[in-house]
Amino acid sequence: MLYSILKGAGKYLPQRIVTNAEISRTLDTSDEWIQRRTGIKQRHIAAQDEYTSDLAVRAAQQALQSAGISSDAIDLVLVATVSPDRTFPSTAALVQGKLSISRGMAFDINAVCSGFLYAVTIADALLKQRQATCALVIGAETFSRLLNWSDRTTAPLFGDGAGAIVLKAEDHETPTGVLSSLLCADGRQWELLYTDGGPSLNQKAGVTRMQGREIFRQAVEKMSVSIQDLVAQTKISLKDIAWLIPHQANARIIEAVAERLSFPIERVLITVDRHANTSAASIPLAVVDSLASGRLVPGQYVLYTAIGAGLTWGAVLMRL
Ligand code: ACO
Repeated sequence: MLYSILKGAGKYLPQRIVTNAEISRTLDTSDEWIQRRTGIKQRHIAAQDEYTSDLAVRAAQQALQSAGISSDAIDLVLVATVSPDRTFPSTAALVQGKLSISRGMAFDINAVCSGFLYAVTIADALLKQRQATCALVIGAETFSRLLNWSDRTTAPLFGDGAGAIVLKAEDHETPTGVLSSLLCADGRQWELLYTDGGPSLNQKAGVTRMQGREIFRQAVEKMSVSIQDLVAQTKISLKDIAWLIPHQANARIIEAVAERLSFPIERVLITVDRHANTSAASIPLAVVDSLASGRLVPGQYVLYTAIGAGLTWGAVLMRL
């Protein structure tokens, strides 16, 4: 059987680190408040002349190097992002160009914080249909550019960064790679989280507006249910999952999901303290860190889950 196999992963975080203490100098907030309510200690912020495609290319290059695969082998570039360099062409096209790839497909996916899971699922489908053979799946954001830096209810929560994986179509006897996925959306709830700008609306990118409490409630509910529903579709039980890798928005949301599922918190990857919420980049950033630290090893079952604006949400099961 043909499977989409994880061959390598890479990341890029902008050099500049902004601590909660630094944010508290210009906003009516404190390190104590931010850490207690969210678990966030710091975030990386891109330089003025650093764009989402730059972050994505750096992560992609590291992913290709770790996979031992040349960019010539790539025939699908997917970038999950809500902070594209330009309205068009896609950031994926810009990344493809910067990597000197001139064949196959390249397009962006906008499912906000669930974007990486949507991208992995689309890449898996295209690889299994033999429409592509080797995919770069990237989550990349300069989310700092979608924030009102005088709004203490949103500005401290987000950060910039990029994570990338290489997925290759390979025949395997044992089920490996992307095994199952469940994606959902409910567009009736878009006003819980949105930007107040857009090219058609007012020719601006806009800034983030959020109903934090309701997003928190929905995040716990929807990520827990999508994990339960996905696991119910497979022969794998939650006990078999080596690592739960949730979207990194808030440590309290992650802890509440683990508690609701009776999933041991020691087997949940948490990076939100260092990266804050990097939207579509948060899951691949956590994957790269855990591969580097040796926590993720071949043969393990890992479960990803996310929720984002839209609302969009879902879960993906992978065997490394
Ligand atoms: N510093 C100090 N006070 C603050 C801050 C801050 N940074 N932000 C809000 N407050 C104040 C509010 O103004 C409010 O004050 P008031 O009572 O005088 O009106 C008070 O704190 C309580 O506000 P709440 O919004 O009720 O606080 P809550 O405990 O819900 O925490 C938070 C807010 C952290 C945003 C929480 O609701 C949350 O994390 N929600 C999820 C949002 C999220 O993660 N969004 C990311 C995108 S979606 C995703 O990725 C899942």
